[in-house]
Amino acid sequence: MTALQYLKKNENKAIKDLFSLLKFPSVSARSEHKKDIKACAEWLKKHLSAIGFKARVMQTGGHPLVFAEYKVDPKLPTALYYGHYDVQPVEPLNLWKSKPFQPDVRAGYIFARGAADDKGQTFAHIKGLEAILKTTGTLPINVKMLIEGEEETHSENLPAFIKKNKKMLKADICIVSDTAQYSKDLPAVTFGLRGIASTEVFVKGPSRDLHSGSYGGAVGNPVNILCDMIGKLHDKNGKIAIPGFYAGVKPPNKFIRGQVKKLPFSETAYKKDVGTKALHGEKGYLPYERTWARPTCDVNGITGGYQGEGAKTIIPSLASAKITMRLVKGQKPMDICNKLEKYLKKIAPKSVEVKVDKHGGAEAVQVPTDSVWLDAARVTIKNAYGKEPAFIMEGGSIPIVGDFKKSLGIDTLLIGMCQHNDNIHSPNERFRIKDFKNGCKMAAQLPFELAKVGA
Ligand code: BES
Ligand code: MN
Ligand code: MN
Repeated sequence: MTALQYLKKNENKAIKDLFSLLKFPSVSARSEHKKDIKACAEWLKKHLSAIGFKARVMQTGGHPLVFAEYKVDPKLPTALYYGHYDVQPVEPLNLWKSKPFQPDVRAGYIFARGAADDKGQTFAHIKGLEAILKTTGTLPINVKMLIEGEEETHSENLPAFIKKNKKMLKADICIVSDTAQYSKDLPAVTFGLRGIASTEVFVKGPSRDLHSGSYGGAVGNPVNILCDMIGKLHDKNGKIAIPGFYAGVKPPNKFIRGQVKKLPFSETAYKKDVGTKALHGEKGYLPYERTWARPTCDVNGITGGYQGEGAKTIIPSLASAKITMRLVKGQKPMDICNKLEKYLKKIAPKSVEVKVDKHGGAEAVQVPTDSVWLDAARVTIKNAYGKEPAFIMEGGSIPIVGDFKKSLGIDTLLIGMCQHNDNIHSPNERFRIKDFKNGCKMAAQLPFELAKVGA
């Protein structure tokens, strides 16, 4: 039996196993899920051990990670597979058609939090490797696998872990499937990711909530003021107004512009897909130029004052917003956080106090667009999907990819399996069963192509 025949024969079992993985509510942002995270890591370790990996759960200072290894021959290339088993919070819950941690199949899709980001994609690699192991008794390359539990909270503890475990993680190339294909009929290899700088901004007004009749008009309202300040983050052309924000930022280069122009794009279909009447953004750039290669500044959540049922009339004492900025080459997360803080403090009226929690983030990364590893990926994808992959960039971030280069000196192959509209980070996250199967197929062929690079 070949690996591909094995996959076909065990298709239903693979999906059943994926369901088991999806059932863990491994939300890294919420401390109440600490136990679920741990249980999920243990499950992965068990699963990998059963396939033949030497696997263990390792502590990081935050949520644990799973490290697994299959050594074949030191003369063969070693690939380090990276993925994450933690997921984003599920709120707003009422918008889910089925429960986020009870996987449901509808119209050819698996619906569950983590189905695409990133349990489903990581699992496709596991199943692909299993197929090779079960049919050949070994692997054509050495494989190391690191599946972490803190990606959705900035991989806070992973850089230090990598620095401490360089020898254990030593590899020739890193493989990550945590991005998307270009579209349903166009697979993709991603050559760049935006970085991110994360903050939480607090605006403090009066020492307590005040009656808005007695005091309104004489005391600053932190919610009004925060909104006004947020309104000043962009100018009328959609440029970010924070002084120094664009220092070091270059316009998208010719190669990027060329890729954007080359790819099929329908603004009508794009708008319909996201459910908006008109697109919005920095003047002078195409939609994909904006999301791939221009920095942004967004409020992810804003709160303050009374939000319960019915009316209440107050001048709230406090308002806050979670603000993140997507970064491109030339921008440093902490520097950008500092610039935002300075600007907000400058534009705030004297009636409030502004505090900015700066969480830093990750720099943008670009991986080579011509390498022997990339050629291996291209051949694999062509075989699995029947189509040459597109070369794309992603607006999202995978914080640790930069560290693989910095600390381990290796490049990463970003091979996306899901679709952009699979609702990652949103209610009704899904993964097309066809995309999962193609992902498994790709994963069962990739090691053979990587082996050729080393030969
Ligand atoms: N898988 C995503 C990154 C991604 C998003 C790739 C969209 C391609 C398209 C990853 O899990 C993610 O969501 N990263 C976070 C990182 C942040 C929390 C530091 C992101 O980009 O918001
Ligand atoms: Mn992800
Ligand atoms: Mn994510």
